[in-house]
Amino acid sequence: MAITSTHRSTTEEDITAEVLRRFESTPDARLREIMLALVRHLHRFVKEVNLTEREWFDAVQFLTETGRMCDDKRQEFILLSDTLGVSMVVDLINHRKPEGATESTVFGPFHREGAPEMAAGGNIAPRDSGGTPMLVSGRVRDLGGRPIAGAKLDVWQADSSGLYDSQYVDGGELHMRGVFHTDDEGRYLVRTVRPVYYAIPHDGPVGRMLRATGRHPWRPAHVHFVVSADGCEPVTTHIFDDSDPYLESDTVFAVKDSLICHFVRHEETDDRARALAIDPPFYSVEFDFVLKPRS
Ligand code: BEZ
Ligand code: FE
Repeated sequence: MAITSTHRSTTEEDITAEVLRRFESTPDARLREIMLALVRHLHRFVKEVNLTEREWFDAVQFLTETGRMCDDKRQEFILLSDTLGVSMVVDLINHRKPEGATESTVFGPFHREGAPEMAAGGNIAPRDSGGTPMLVSGRVRDLGGRPIAGAKLDVWQADSSGLYDSQYVDGGELHMRGVFHTDDEGRYLVRTVRPVYYAIPHDGPVGRMLRATGRHPWRPAHVHFVVSADGCEPVTTHIFDDSDPYLESDTVFAVKDSLICHFVRHEETDDRARALAIDPPFYSVEFDFVLKPRS
């Protein structure tokens, strides 16, 4: 005879309540909040799509492969978060900025520690002979418009082939990266090459997901910055090229209007280009970073 119990058997209707009950006594209040919401949403999701056992197993396989793809040079979970738009939701809710402050965007998986310190005009692309030279300049200011001296700019970008240094087989050596500081008037000047649009790594599970859903892997051309200064909140951001065909469909949803800039083409030299021994044609772009005070 079957043992009847009101405690152990769960039904489609009451299993969620029972799982939630087990997490109710999580000592850490924030962890409790997160686990309860996670269970509620996951159960609702599984029921909404009527997930089959096959699909559940495929999802487990997908996540397993995503983990296996990760090492010190490749972060497939960040790519997954980025392409699902989760990274940008986290960015948007955590960096609500006052009017005028530079907006943030995704950090991405390609930042590296240890970029060389460079003087104003330093070239972050010394080995990129195929790229068109570009000067990025402007000021770092506070919300009141006052220039910030000694602000730090950590800059990185893909080369003119659309690849980051770490994506090359022998990618141990740092390239396309530099750390700059503003002068007494808050000015900075970075020499690089014009960035190009590039595909995020798509030879793994994230690429498969993009193909299966009819999406492309492209990111519009951009230069990455983390700008920081004493007493201010650092900003992690990019500047984007206003002529890029992928501005409307960045595969990681990271474009914000305020970060789109005009990259000016110069066919003739000028004093600044001469001083840096840059032959035309070259590009220049101006962008002022505005930092808000640390809260
Ligand atoms: C990047 O801009 O470096 C990047 C951001 C998200 C995913 C892949 C690359
Ligand atoms: Fe990038």
